[in-house]
Amino acid sequence: MNEYQKVLVTGVKGQLGYDVVKRLNELGINCVGVDVEDFDLTDYEQVSSKVRLLQPTAIIHCAAYTAVDAAESNEQLCNLVNVKGTENIAQVAEYLKAKLIYISTDYVFSGEGESAFETDSPKAPCNVYGRSKYLGEQAAQKYCSRTFIVRTSWVYGLNGGNFVKTMLRLAAEHSSINVVNDQIGSPTYTRDLAVLLCDMVQTEKYGVYHATNEGYCSWAQFAAEIMSLAGKKTYVNPILSSEYKTAARRPPNSRLSKISLDFAGFKRLPHWKDALKRYIEELNSSVR
Ligand SMILES: NC(=O)c1ccc[n+]([C@@H]2O[C@H](COP(=O)([O-])OP(=O)(O)OC[C@H]3O[C@@H](n4cnc5c(N)ncnc54)[C@H](OP(=O)(O)O)[C@@H]3O)[C@@H](O)[C@H]2O)c1
Repeated sequence: MNEYQKVLVTGVKGQLGYDVVKRLNELGINCVGVDVEDFDLTDYEQVSSKVRLLQPTAIIHCAAYTAVDAAESNEQLCNLVNVKGTENIAQVAEYLKAKLIYISTDYVFSGEGESAFETDSPKAPCNVYGRSKYLGEQAAQKYCSRTFIVRTSWVYGLNGGNFVKTMLRLAAEHSSINVVNDQIGSPTYTRDLAVLLCDMVQTEKYGVYHATNEGYCSWAQFAAEIMSLAGKKTYVNPILSSEYKTAARRPPNSRLSKISLDFAGFKRLPHWKDALKRYIEELNSSVR
C-alpha cells in the first residue's frame, strides 16, 4: 500500500474496529476510525458527506447491529443498520473508487450438518441478525465493485463485552456454570483477524472469505479452556441448547472452511487455543 492510501474503519468503538485501527497504526498505514458519534451509518446524507470529506481509498466496515437476541424484537433497526447502513457505505465506496471490506458471520448459514460450510454453500440464516448480515453482504457486492466479504465467528477482543469476559465474571461468582455443548464453531480473537484484514486491504483479491482462528470447539469446551488458562476452579457443566433458551435461535454447526484463504495466498489465523492464551495475557496486562 503506498503513502497515498487512507483506510476508513467503521465501528472503531467496537471489538474488531478497535483492533483493526491498532493494527493499521502498527503497520504505519494512514487510517481514521469512526463510530456512531461521527456519523450514523443509516443516514445516507451524513455517510455521503462525511466519507467524501475523508477521501478514503479503502473502507473496513466493522460497524453493525450485533445484539443477536435483541434483534428478534428489533428487526427494523437491525436491518436499517446492517443492510441500509452497508448499502450507504458501499455506495460511497464505489463513488470514491475505494475498496470495501464487509465483515459478515457464520450466521448466514443454516447451521445444519457437521461439515464445514464453504464460502458458496447455500445461505439459510436461522435468525433476524443472520438474515440482516446476509442482506448486508448482498448490498456490499451490489453497490461496490471492489468488495471483500469476510465471514467470521465467535468474536472476542479487548474492547467490549464478549463470551470470555462473561465467563471470567461468572467464575468469580460461581463454583459451577452451565454452558451449551452442542453448538460447534471457532472462537476468533480480533487481534488475529485484524492482522488478516490489514493484509487483505493491501491487495485487490476481491471475493468472499472465511476467517476464524483455526480448530473447532463447543462453547462448553471454549469455557473450560478459559477457566484452565485463567487459573479458575469453576466447573463447566456441559448442557444442551434445548436447556438454555435464548430469543434468537443459534446454529448448531458454525464450522467454516478456510480454503478460499489458502487459494488466495492469505495466511490462516493461529489455533483458537493459542489465540485465547494470548488474549488472557492481554487482559491481565491491561488491568495491571
Ligand atoms: N461479535 C461476534 O461474535 C461476531 C461474530 C461474527 C461476525 N461479527 C461481525 O463482526 C463485525 C464486528 O463485530 P464486533 O463484535 O466488533 O461489533 P461491536 O463490538 O458490537 O461493534 C460494533 C460497533 O458499530 C457501532 N454501530 C452500531 N450502529 C451504528 C450506526 N448506526 N452507525 C455507526 N456505528 C454504529 C456500534 O456502536 P454502539 O455500540 O453505540 O451501538 C459499535 O461501536 C460486525 O460486522 C459483526 O456483525 C461479529
